[in-house]
Amino acid sequence: MPAVSASAPGKVILFGEHAVVYGQPAIAVPVNQVSSHAVILANPAGLPDQIHLIAPQINIDQDLDALPEDHPLAIAVMQVKRQLKLGHLPSCTLQLNSTVPMSSGLGSSASTAVAVIRALGLFLGQPFTEEEVSQLAYAVEKKQHGNPSGIDNTVIAYNRPVYFIRNQPMLPLKVALPFTLIVANSGISSSTADVVAAVRAAWEKETAHYDRLFTSIGNISTQARSLIEHGPIMKLGHLMSANHTLLQEMGVSCPELDRLVAAALEAGALGAKLCGAGWGGNMVALTPEDKTQDIQAALKYAGATQTFIAEILASGRN
Ligand code: PMV
Repeated sequence: MPAVSASAPGKVILFGEHAVVYGQPAIAVPVNQVSSHAVILANPAGLPDQIHLIAPQINIDQDLDALPEDHPLAIAVMQVKRQLKLGHLPSCTLQLNSTVPMSSGLGSSASTAVAVIRALGLFLGQPFTEEEVSQLAYAVEKKQHGNPSGIDNTVIAYNRPVYFIRNQPMLPLKVALPFTLIVANSGISSSTADVVAAVRAAWEKETAHYDRLFTSIGNISTQARSLIEHGPIMKLGHLMSANHTLLQEMGVSCPELDRLVAAALEAGALGAKLCGAGWGGNMVALTPEDKTQDIQAALKYAGATQTFIAEILASGRN
């Protein structure tokens, strides 16, 4: 049997992180500059359920049954078995490679889950639909993060820009005109579960204040949707910066991210914000095309450990 393979992108949340957990709308785009890739090769001589895993980025080169049951890869395989009502899986080797930086707000856990689930469906001759992949990856995310909104698995499984509201069907986002983003890593890794739990604790203590912050962010997402769908795109920048200010107020930014946001704006970005859970990880800036080099240089000078440019294409072209 030839090897099967599947890939999944990373993602950037342009608007609405954290508020989305509380039912507010959010906007996310896939970014293919970082991605996960799963390859599965049958082991005709192996015993049923003997699955060898190779994942160099997380130092794994061992059989699946040697992993703890709550390991995300073990959960992903178990979800697929359950979905397809299979007692056993044919023996195989599953190799997973990912360039999505871990714990950095670019959706590494959803990206690896989507690549593995999709590859397993192909390997078993029962390819999953995008919605099935999204739901299975959501189940993996829930075991890892406790209370995820579902935005990461959705934008990554569908691999298209989304306007997302928790517990509602996926809403594709039409992109009227292309725009350019620069994504920069602060080099600080942070746990999404920890930041989400801290926001929950703060919300429980100061519910009215946090509800106001979430509502303001939701309003920004709604306005941003209209700008992305109808233009003018350039006005998005102000909304991104306003979203960052609200995230600062929420307590999820950090000096390193604030420094990168300020550096991008000083170098000519139209707007900038942290993206993902915060307390580290990445930020994203909306940039005029002629300023990308200046902004990237400024971000590196301000401490970014990695930067990349993501062109968001007009709908029908990505
Ligand atoms: O840090 P990331 O890439 O896992 O993004 C988290 C986004 C949050 O809104 C903070 C949490 C969620 O489940 O939506």
